Amino acid sequence: MRGWIIYKQNEMLLRQEAYEIHRLLEVAKEENIELQVFSPDQFDLTVTRDDEKSILIDGKRQELPDFVMPRMGAGTTYFTLAVIRHLERLGVYCVNSSHSIETVKDKLFAQQILAEKNLPTPDTMLVKFPVNVALVEKQIGFPVVVKTLSGSQGSGVFLSKSPGEFDDLMQLIEATSPKANIILQQFVKASHGRDLRVFTIGGRAIACMERNSNGENFKANVSLGGVGKLYPITPEIE
Ligand SMILES: Nc1ncnc2c1ncn2[C@@H]1O[C@H](COP(=O)(O)OP(=O)(O)OP(=O)(O)O)[C@@H](O)[C@H]1O
Ligand SMILES: [Mg+2]
Repeated sequence: MRGWIIYKQNEMLLRQEAYEIHRLLEVAKEENIELQVFSPDQFDLTVTRDDEKSILIDGKRQELPDFVMPRMGAGTTYFTLAVIRHLERLGVYCVNSSHSIETVKDKLFAQQILAEKNLPTPDTMLVKFPVNVALVEKQIGFPVVVKTLSGSQGSGVFLSKSPGEFDDLMQLIEATSPKANIILQQFVKASHGRDLRVFTIGGRAIACMERNSNGENFKANVSLGGVGKLYPITPEIE
């Protein structure tokens, strides 16, 4: 079996910090899967009506793999999405799909889908400048979690404790980047510095990890120093 990982750096430039890429390569080797890492800018796209079995990488024809794992996360650009969509159209199995990536890149859109499916989610508001602080207090309350619409590894996530502090922050954002898309979210107190990450494959919850910041930080991200450990899946979590 042959697969490709699409990541911001190619195999030659992979830095040691790209932990999960190194782990995937390691496991693929054990499983006898030929796995290669390419960056999106190595691809050239031509859309034709011909039945294609290959794609250009670094200007050279490469036979299509059995599967592709896009690993660009919130950094997925239009170009990368176009590459993934192209591979999907050529019949390559992509996990995650371009559709999933597009959905979760937008944190508000992801919340809309969760709420539509009747899953318990914190109330979330999209910021409109100038911000009506009284309305935010009524709809969401304080403290409030302020997030950029797209982001990962906990960057662009901020806890604002009081209406006064929040007003200052909103004015600063409006003055420096008035076009910024920001969401506001109810602060889940019980989740301070702690959360559960549930992995689902093919619509089934298959594993769960508890992440803990072990300190002051309200964000549990491992990339910010949080520690993850295995957590049993209960019917409620599932
Ligand atoms: N509404 C909230 N209430 C309490 N804690 C929160 C809330 N939203 C986020 N957090 C904490 O902040 C962390 C980062 O937030 P979030 O998951 O939204 O951003 P991210 O990890 O950067 O994005 P993504 O999970 O999409 O990669 C969460 O893991 C959680 O610990
Ligand atoms: Mg997160």
